[in-house]
Amino acid sequence: MCGIFGCFLKNENAAPLIHSALKRLEYRGYDSVGIATISNGTIFLKKGQGKIDEVHKNINLNDLPGNIGIGHTRWATHGAPLQVNSHPHSDCTGKITVVHNGIIENFNDLKIELQNLGHTFTSKTDTEVIPHLIEETLKNKPDLPFEEVVQETLKRLEGSYAIATIFSQEPNKIVCARNESPLVLGIGDNGIYFASDIPAFLPLTTRALHIDNGELVILTADGYKIKNIQTNQTIERLPETVDWTSDMAVKDGYPHFMIKEIHEQPETLRNTFRLQEHYLDLMSTFLDRATEIFLVACGTSYHACLAASYMFSKLAFLPTYPVYASEFIEQYGKSVNIDSTILAVSQSGETADTIAAVATAQQRAATILSLTNTIGSTLTRISRVYIGTQAGPEISVAATKTFTSQLSVLAQLALRLAKKRGKVSQSEIDILDAQLEKLPDIVDTIVKTQQEKAKQIAHKYANSKLLFFLGKGISTATAFEGRLKLLEVAYIPSVVFPAGESKHGPISLIEQDLPVIFVCQKDDTHKTVISNIMEMKARGAKIIAITEEDDHEIKNLADDYLEVPKNIPSILSPIPFVIPLQLLAYHMALEFNHNPDTPRNLAKSVTVR
Ligand code: F6R
Repeated sequence: MCGIFGCFLKNENAAPLIHSALKRLEYRGYDSVGIATISNGTIFLKKGQGKIDEVHKNINLNDLPGNIGIGHTRWATHGAPLQVNSHPHSDCTGKITVVHNGIIENFNDLKIELQNLGHTFTSKTDTEVIPHLIEETLKNKPDLPFEEVVQETLKRLEGSYAIATIFSQEPNKIVCARNESPLVLGIGDNGIYFASDIPAFLPLTTRALHIDNGELVILTADGYKIKNIQTNQTIERLPETVDWTSDMAVKDGYPHFMIKEIHEQPETLRNTFRLQEHYLDLMSTFLDRATEIFLVACGTSYHACLAASYMFSKLAFLPTYPVYASEFIEQYGKSVNIDSTILAVSQSGETADTIAAVATAQQRAATILSLTNTIGSTLTRISRVYIGTQAGPEISVAATKTFTSQLSVLAQLALRLAKKRGKVSQSEIDILDAQLEKLPDIVDTIVKTQQEKAKQIAHKYANSKLLFFLGKGISTATAFEGRLKLLEVAYIPSVVFPAGESKHGPISLIEQDLPVIFVCQKDDTHKTVISNIMEMKARGAKIIAITEEDDHEIKNLADDYLEVPKNIPSILSPIPFVIPLQLLAYHMALEFNHNPDTPRNLAKSVTVR
């Protein structure tokens, strides 16, 4: 996730306005920033690594000339957060300049093709193929107007993008386009703006116009023109007035970042399928050859590791050890060695306990692999291979979208390993692949259909002094994560156990009306889970089930339930099943008027041990 903004102003200089608008988009990424303007047929460009204020202090982003310009604030996905990888990116001649939010899936093939045609690349980004490809189209079709050159070029791109481009030889236009990454126009009295999000231009205008997938926009002194990229049809659309405050706009109209981020999961999950195959293959090759594998993480990321340990063993027949990073050195610091492989998982890539565990293992010559949401973090720098989880910045302290993104990448790794190791039939793999790809839609359905019910259940059980979370098999990990979310944001004491363990002690806490949340995926644990539910019911517990929509047996036993669509393969179940638990925790926090975005005593990134 990055932020793009640009403007075509009537009189003023564009750069100071782009600078202040990018500040309002900084919540979308803050690894680097850049602005390009156009004046008297020349492009002026400044960019730098770091947060906007730091970069501005060093290079003054405001003094670029011209009333037309484009800008970008970056959250690194392809290429480290360095100066060379900062946007805007240019073609070989420096006449075409582009900003981009999204992921170009076929950039590697395009890059090789363009390099063979003599293009020189300066960055490691996927974005840089766009200006070079436009340059190439222009070479072949020099008579086309710039917008048509861009339109032709876009037909070759696969993946997601919101782009904006300027061309020094046609200095009186900005061409923008959208496919699966947000793009919105703002129509003001002093000019036209384009942005990733409304807050960028909210102090300038409240008249906004959303651009849809597959649309191209041409901004000129006469206004805006929208066209369908494939059909070339002109699209008539008028702006609407938005009545958001700046604070609401940053949250896209949601009251809190936590609920915004829960709702973003269909999109962030889709992004996890745009990972570079090459890295998934490389990492699964390392895992396949490993003698012993430790999955090391803290908090929510540890729960992703716990789920992954079931995925790896059940799908790929590969045993792994999930370990709390804070315990790793005590438990394995002496035994970890050259034959060990560590797969560290961390949203921030900076968690002190995770880094310390990895550093210890590295000193003892273990192989370090990692999964993180923050490219350029300490973890990426000390890993042999890392994969970015593509969830974009997560602002709410409670991790939600980054958890499901981690799970999706881990499931893709497990599937690759299963293929490599030949343990699972091709038809089974095909089914799982297909189900995995359906998850964004499934999660979308859950978020849309279960929110109101989660709110009612939260209200009904808000006075409970204690809650239980139980799950069996891979759902143990889901139950652990559901309980962590509730503890974190609603501060309700709660206990979690693998359902089978409940008889070995925790059941002594059960008394009349105590709520027990069961995560009930439909697999070969089903019968035992039903017995566990009966045990709890017999002692007066109230059962809240997270269940598949057609699981009538569970629904009939439960006092309340939240449901997910049917036929979810057990191995993928933590992704959809955790969503109702995230919603429940969120609404429980609201019951007590807690701000779920900033829970007491907690920090987003725990950089002390
Ligand atoms: C839970 C949460 C924390 C983090 C943990 C690890 O909602 O946010 O438990 O999961 O501090 O952080 P990362 O993943 O950044 O290493």
